[in-house]
Amino acid sequence: MLKIDNLRFRYEQRPLAIDIDELLIEKGESIGIIGPNGAGKSTLLQLLLGIQKDYVGTITLNDIRLDKKTKKYFRDHIGLVFQNPDEQLFMPTVYDDVAFGLKMKGIDQNVIDVAVEAVLASLGIKELKDRASLKLSGGEKKRVAMASIFVMDPDIMVFDEPTLALDPKSRRRVINIINSLEKTKLITSHDLDMIYETCSRVIILYEGKIVAQGKPHTLLSDVELMDKVELECPLILKNLL
Ligand SMILES: Nc1ncnc2c1ncn2[C@@H]1O[C@H](COP(=O)(O)OP(=O)(O)OP(=O)(O)O)[C@@H](O)[C@H]1O
Ligand SMILES: [Mg+2]
Repeated sequence: MLKIDNLRFRYEQRPLAIDIDELLIEKGESIGIIGPNGAGKSTLLQLLLGIQKDYVGTITLNDIRLDKKTKKYFRDHIGLVFQNPDEQLFMPTVYDDVAFGLKMKGIDQNVIDVAVEAVLASLGIKELKDRASLKLSGGEKKRVAMASIFVMDPDIMVFDEPTLALDPKSRRRVINIINSLEKTKLITSHDLDMIYETCSRVIILYEGKIVAQGKPHTLLSDVELMDKVELECPLILKNLL
């Protein structure tokens, strides 16, 4: 359903940040995109939402090609939870942040209230509803940012570093939330144990290129490959080796 062909992108005066010949993501897949710092993971996610524009190649979703006119279609169908929640939250209260997207769609106030309550409850943050979004802890903000995307019910959920800087309990909660979502999922992370627990396929990005892809267990337990791409096998697999 989501397809990338001959995608090349560079930031001004920089070498290619993305250099992908082909990538196909089927409905219902849960894909882990891993690679060292600067490999191009966040850039790739931004390209899918039309946040970065000056690229060569094609990105299609359900046979619709991404361009200026179809960008809205992509944004309606793909929900991105940013690496940094401060880039996502901007309203005075948690309620306002989570309700914002639905309000923009002109949805009835009563319906919005019910949807916001439900999504906050599902993420275990009902009590944060009237708090100021920017005065929450990092882990709380992360869950509010997720709520603001979940409430829109996109077909494809994209998480950029969802467990970054979370305490073990919050991290576990996020893993459980991701696993309970019956959607197409794209997840980038350096938390390879989390990737192992949440993904059905792993893609290794290195210097903007896909250098390997396959089953999480096969790739993540390949010591030589992981070393070559400057990563380490996840702890859970190290203990099994
Ligand atoms: N706004 C920008 N302007 C110029 N170069 C950039 C910009 N953002 C990223 N880059 C460069 O593009 C490359 C890919 O960066 P990107 O942020 O996509 O990597 P990443 O895989 O997400 O890394 P990390 O694991 O650190 O989050 C890097 O070389 C980076 O320096
Ligand atoms: Mg990144």
